[in-house]
Amino acid sequence: MATTRDPGALGALKVAPSILSADFAALGAGVAAVDEVTDWIHVDVMDGHFVPNLTIGPPVVRSLRSATDRYLDCHLMVTEPEILLEGFAKAGADGVTVHVEIGRTQELIDAIRGLGMRVGLAVNPDGGAKLVEPWLEQVDLVLMMTVFPGFGGQAFIESVVPEIAEVARLRRERALSFDLEVDGGIDVTTTPVVVEAGANVLVAGSAVYGKADPAAAVGALRAAAGS
Ligand code: DX5
Ligand code: ZN
Repeated sequence: MATTRDPGALGALKVAPSILSADFAALGAGVAAVDEVTDWIHVDVMDGHFVPNLTIGPPVVRSLRSATDRYLDCHLMVTEPEILLEGFAKAGADGVTVHVEIGRTQELIDAIRGLGMRVGLAVNPDGGAKLVEPWLEQVDLVLMMTVFPGFGGQAFIESVVPEIAEVARLRRERALSFDLEVDGGIDVTTTPVVVEAGANVLVAGSAVYGKADPAAAVGALRAAAGS
């Protein structure tokens, strides 16, 4: 498990509870409920344009930063990350992931890196490995969405599994070591499937915060992953 703000070894199994499914009126309690057992905290940032939902930004990350020493994994489902990146860096974000679908990928990778954060690149379920393939050498993390982003609690999209396996194959073939993260519909049933395909970072919202004991739910995901 990670220690203070430590991303952990690239490629090692990590669980990242998504606070999108926590109570937004009590985010501190939501983080505290998993803080002892989790690796990362996943922060879903939505702008009402890239996805039809609106969530949180740098001010909330700043508050989360003072509530936890865990690695803050910020997933930006926004069309204009440029205007937010510095704010996230100053707020204490550890990693920022942008979507490949919005373009300007090289500029965004350079900007995130330049601000001292880890770089992630996300792709929607209909994008596949081919969309992220040109950038694999430059990123710390690839996020394969296993639902169309915007909302928690959606059903896992099975057709992404071969695409996860393809990204994992490219990672091996090119001797790279980026983290391969999955997000959407991850629970104890889908975890063995994505881990078998090569994923090593498990984002889970409802499978953690939808349970009476979120810490036990993190343990159950770890067990389902075989670690
Ligand atoms: C979806 C978000 C996810 C979401 C996952 O747009 O990116 O992180 O919180 O929620 P579950 O695990 O409930 O599918
Ligand atoms: Zn997410």
